[in-house]
Amino acid sequence: MYTPERERDLIELTRRILKDLDQIRRSDLKKAQEYAPLLREVIRYHDYKYYIQASPVISDYEYDQIFRTLRDLESKYPQIVTPDSPTQRVASEITGSFPEVSHYTPMLSLDNAYTEEELRDFDRRVREATGLETVEYSVEPKYDGAGIALVYRDDIFVRGATRGDGETGEDITNNLRTIKTIPLRADFSKFGIRLIEIRGEVLISREEFRRMNEERMEEGLTPFANPRNAAAGSLRLQNPAEVAKRRLEAVVYQVSYVEPEDMYPETHYEAVRMLHSLGFKTPFKDMKLCRGIDEVIAYCKEWEEKRDTYPYEIDGMVVKVNVRKYYDTLGFTSHHPRWAIAFKFKARQATTKLVSVVFQVGRVGTVTPVGKLEPVQIGGVTVSSVSLFNEDFIKEKDIRIGDLVLVERAGDVIPYVVEVIKEARDGDETPIEFPENCPSCGSKLVKLPGEVAWRCINIACPDQVVLRLRHWGSREAMDIRGLGEATAKALYSKGFVKDVGDLYYLKVTDLVKLPGFAEKAALNLYNAIQESKNRGLDRVIYGLGIRYVGLTTAKKLAQEIDSIWDLKDMPIEKIVRIEGIGDIVARSIKEFFSREENLKVIEKLEKAGVKLTRTKLEKEGPLKGKVFVFTGTLRCCSRERAGQIVEILGGTFANTVTSKTTYLVVGEDPGRTKLTRAKQLGVKTISEEEFLDMIRDYVNLEDLRRSERREGSLF
Ligand code: IVH
Repeated sequence: MYTPERERDLIELTRRILKDLDQIRRSDLKKAQEYAPLLREVIRYHDYKYYIQASPVISDYEYDQIFRTLRDLESKYPQIVTPDSPTQRVASEITGSFPEVSHYTPMLSLDNAYTEEELRDFDRRVREATGLETVEYSVEPKYDGAGIALVYRDDIFVRGATRGDGETGEDITNNLRTIKTIPLRADFSKFGIRLIEIRGEVLISREEFRRMNEERMEEGLTPFANPRNAAAGSLRLQNPAEVAKRRLEAVVYQVSYVEPEDMYPETHYEAVRMLHSLGFKTPFKDMKLCRGIDEVIAYCKEWEEKRDTYPYEIDGMVVKVNVRKYYDTLGFTSHHPRWAIAFKFKARQATTKLVSVVFQVGRVGTVTPVGKLEPVQIGGVTVSSVSLFNEDFIKEKDIRIGDLVLVERAGDVIPYVVEVIKEARDGDETPIEFPENCPSCGSKLVKLPGEVAWRCINIACPDQVVLRLRHWGSREAMDIRGLGEATAKALYSKGFVKDVGDLYYLKVTDLVKLPGFAEKAALNLYNAIQESKNRGLDRVIYGLGIRYVGLTTAKKLAQEIDSIWDLKDMPIEKIVRIEGIGDIVARSIKEFFSREENLKVIEKLEKAGVKLTRTKLEKEGPLKGKVFVFTGTLRCCSRERAGQIVEILGGTFANTVTSKTTYLVVGEDPGRTKLTRAKQLGVKTISEEEFLDMIRDYVNLEDLRRSERREGSLF
């Protein structure tokens, strides 16, 4: 896709652009017309490094700066926007329903083979029809996502559609534009191609899927059954901005139509190689050319073994005749091509009986129904219980006790009821009754307006307290070894601990009183608790178990504040301005901090010496680990510009002087507050000249001064 020389040029261009960003931002129309293509070119290159090769060559911060510059220029001069501009990915317009479009060639499905024998039968049919003795097959993973068809005309991505009924699909171009692994332009013209339709799959990686479901469950929403449903559901969202938030990826694996017709690559392998070279995500590296069916079978088996280590869910392998000219000879049935077949891996679904339903109270008081199943083997694991999530889930699927249910366990994902086999009912099935009282403390359950879950709102509910303790000690939170559910229960029932703050006041002499705790275990737990004091602000925020605040949100919050107390005082309008944090989460945070009992817990933690302040993320660069605050007017450039330079060089730019500040850089007419505060805290003050000395080797100061002067800023 990019030659080493080209890469060097693009990196050089990137550096020049970064250096001149301020100037570029202030371009007039003529200049904007010159800069925009350059900005697009470097953004495309960095997208490729980041999304396709997963080895970015600039920091996210620098990327954002370039991206924003292009976006700002385009919004200032809308006439320079092009449909393939990277900014067009983040559409914000809400689309109506999706229009229908006809595919260039019907999107058929594949015939399935479940056994080696069935693969051999397929090979026999191919050999008979083609007269070949040995057939060359191309074998690649079968992705379990949502099928799509992409059309490029004159190198521009012009249309993307769902499979629909195979003949007609829904036009979801705007949503697909938000997926960064779909290039908005690709040089098909280099291959003599004017128009091309390609087939592929929209996917969500297992990791992203897990993250998404965790978030959904935190929010009391029903999680997706599997990555495929998550991808398909996301694609059909009406708001492309929402789609952009889900980290969807697209892989393409088939050329289905080409104009002019004689420009079709001769083999499937070549077709995929072409797509790969044009910057698409493809199965190229996982694809194998096999001579004869024995090699095919061996390769399929190899992949079945390693399927769980693959970052995406795959449900089999697709075996395709490699040489295209045989496609015509072999032809199609009404359902599938005769030149390809899917070898399906062992199913991860099974049917079993729902024996009973129990109700559990969660950490934030949500009551969850859990179905007890007649134990069943799914993909080598015995499954005997399954979450039924909430009342709506049960109603929607009309699940009753005694029902035969289809259960899926996708990869390492939690088991899930996909559907009820209603045909198997004999009339003895009984509806699931939701309890009116909390199964732990007996208090009346409530359903808050707009929520699907029933909740116990008794803050002292024993099950909730125990779960909060366990959550605080969990690996992602404060990582306290030895504080599992049983220990948390014992600590609570002995009356030693009523909230997480109490943990830090426990003595070894208390801990030895726990059942099964000899002196060694007690000492270990004591030490583990003490060690957890320095886990960091994000882990504390997560550990507190604020409703809707998962690890990702906690991290985002921690980056915006210096101490947990800042969160208490942060107005709702400011919280929702943090990217990815919405109204519901913000209100939940406010609610948490408005409760006296929660503030008391935080005070207890603070008194005990638990670290409730932020340590800045370590970055790379010559100013790594240094925190700069500026006061007064600088002669070299604006304070914002100086801050940018600091950040690019790996340092941190802050607005207020705290004990974390390394230098207060003092310009002309400095503000009183910052100076006094620096003096109080013993923060070193330096002059602008001293600051410039630190960056002189990395920044061309002459250029800096000149560019600022030309804009008529400070002189
Ligand atoms: S080729 C005409 N290759 O599986 C044949 N399909 O069950 C075009 N799929 O509709 C399909 N991975 O959505 C092909 N590597 C792959 C695939 C793949 C997943 C999907 C595709 C297709 C379905 C058939």
